[in-house]
Amino acid sequence: MAIKTIGIVGAGQMGSGIAQVAATSHFHVIMSDISEALVERGKSNISTSLDRMVQKEKITPPQKRDIMDRIEGIVDMGEMKGADFIIEAATENEGLKLSIFKELDGICGKEIILSSNTSSLSITKIASATTRPEKVIGMHFMNPVPAMELVEIIKGLATSDETFRTTKGLAEKLGKTPVEANDFPGFISNRILIPMINEAIYTLFEGVGDADAIDTVMKLGMNHPMGPLALADLIGLDTVLAILNTLYQGLGDPKYRPCPLLKKYVDAGYLGRKTGRGFFSYEKT
Ligand SMILES: NC(=O)c1ccc[n+]([C@@H]2O[C@H](COP(=O)([O-])OP(=O)(O)OC[C@H]3O[C@@H](n4cnc5c(N)ncnc54)[C@H](O)[C@@H]3O)[C@@H](O)[C@H]2O)c1
Repeated sequence: MAIKTIGIVGAGQMGSGIAQVAATSHFHVIMSDISEALVERGKSNISTSLDRMVQKEKITPPQKRDIMDRIEGIVDMGEMKGADFIIEAATENEGLKLSIFKELDGICGKEIILSSNTSSLSITKIASATTRPEKVIGMHFMNPVPAMELVEIIKGLATSDETFRTTKGLAEKLGKTPVEANDFPGFISNRILIPMINEAIYTLFEGVGDADAIDTVMKLGMNHPMGPLALADLIGLDTVLAILNTLYQGLGDPKYRPCPLLKKYVDAGYLGRKTGRGFFSYEKT
């Protein structure tokens, strides 16, 4: 079946980024969130991002309009029935994702692939909430989606080869480079990245260096384009903590213990760029 319409659950930074890329690649997009206001915020973020592309003359104003016209915002999940492929990009919380997949399983036709953009959660477990585990797969985009080339693709225990091939083909149609990873907590990307970020937070917590020093060492000394604390702020500190908890519990190794300072920041509502404050402060947009 040809994929024409992509359903995206969650209009946060990842959901809106995936919607932008899908609509730019000429797919029709149905994007949901839990309120009209959040759907509108997602659309407005896409519009701002496309405006920057117009300014850089990468797209024309009519092209921007066409891209926006291909994105339909919804709150009623029942409307996902019109989608040919689902990408779930809601908050990183296992209980939430299990209930979303159970709901989608009841709404979408049996032939529809249900994929998750989860950063760390078990695809096998998410698939178990459905009656079609062979059609459930991980499709892990990177942030910011329009700029980052990689998509990790994760097969759960029951995911079929056909589901894998279709998902890989879709990633390529979206202009991305797919890489297969096995279904273990954090897959490849976050198994490596998130412990490094956690260690950077411990380095701050223990007073080895301040936030500027830590990020400068990693940028100038290790040639990273972005320091680990600024990257944590970009990912969202709530998401970083959720991924660490998945690594800690899923792998049962104390080396993944989340730094207490990270927990304190999340408790305070310092979630990084999305709230204007994390390890660094940001002008709210
Ligand atoms: N932030 C990153 O760098 C990054 C990178 C790759 C993958 N991810 C993953 O992508 C997913 C989303 O992360 P994000 O950074 O966009 O978070 P976010 O907080 O920006 O957005 C999450 C959105 O999901 C919405 N949501 C919650 N419950 C919902 C429901 N039942 N139906 C529809 N929408 C619902 C929230 O209202 C929110 O708008 C998570 O699984 C995360 O682990 C994040």
